[in-house]
Amino acid sequence: MKKIAILTSGGDAPGMNCAIRSVVRVASNNNIEVTGVGYGYQGLIEKDFKKIGPRDVSNIISRGGTILKTARSEDFFKKDIRKKSYENLVTECIEALVVIGGNGSYKGALSLHNDFNLPVVGIPGTIDNDINGTQRTLGFDTALNTAMDAIDKVKDTATSMDRIFLIEVMGRDSGSIAVYASLAGGAEDVIIPQEDKDVGQIIEKIKEARSKGKRSWIIIIAEGAGGADLFAHRFKKFMSDIRITVIGHTQRGGAASVFDRFLGAVMGKEAVDALLRNEKASAIGWLDDRAYSYPLQEAVKPKKEDFTYLLELIKMLT
Ligand code: F6P
Repeated sequence: MKKIAILTSGGDAPGMNCAIRSVVRVASNNNIEVTGVGYGYQGLIEKDFKKIGPRDVSNIISRGGTILKTARSEDFFKKDIRKKSYENLVTECIEALVVIGGNGSYKGALSLHNDFNLPVVGIPGTIDNDINGTQRTLGFDTALNTAMDAIDKVKDTATSMDRIFLIEVMGRDSGSIAVYASLAGGAEDVIIPQEDKDVGQIIEKIKEARSKGKRSWIIIIAEGAGGADLFAHRFKKFMSDIRITVIGHTQRGGAASVFDRFLGAVMGKEAVDALLRNEKASAIGWLDDRAYSYPLQEAVKPKKEDFTYLLELIKMLT
């Protein structure tokens, strides 16, 4: 293999740059040239190509976002447009594609492989931690740290003023950020799409706790459960003095955490290794403390997460 391309697609995630750096340098060590594609699949369609060498990725390890830029391309779902993208790769003698992104980006890579037999490999880059076959995705740990920091700060004011706060975290349909951030931030309750919660019962719990001297209460709400506004409306039927904080896109920014930098490095290497092993459509995962490659076909299936243990623990620690 002499030449590969790399792109980042969908929502950016801290650690994407670390993975790009690793892919470029590991490829270079194996005498493989790397073409960077701008703006995800849109750049494949528009031939936004640029050669990136080992020195072009200097000092990006500590930068948030993605140096390649990213986008969500609706056009890429059309087969004739995908064909044009494939032809653009062929014209440049590019033999394989590394895609860093989430579930939608993986589906794009799989269609490119299925339609034209192009070797592809996916690196899970999304703060949502919702890709099947991997315990961790790039960006999740950093996003969690950002969410935890926000929860700590809200807690200071909630405690000082004996208030109840609803804090909305990102995560699309996944409850991962909500559950892990609740545990790490010492939240009193968490509402995720995977579990029905009765607002009336939460209010009863708060009232009971207040009668015993616990005055403030933090409830984390996953955006996929309906978001803080919806729940504020429900809570306010029982209790009017409630405040809302939406952490929002801060969870996507910032320098990657130690773990995400580490993950970027090892997953980038594993991605190049998978191509060198002649694998045709793989995804890179993190399982039992190591990076491994597995079929992309598996990775695009919905991830089933069982949060029972952690949810019980959050209750126990309240
Ligand atoms: O998938 C990453 C993510 O940040 C989700 O958590 C969130 O639902 C979505 O992207 C937001 O997308 P956008 O930045 O396009 O509004």
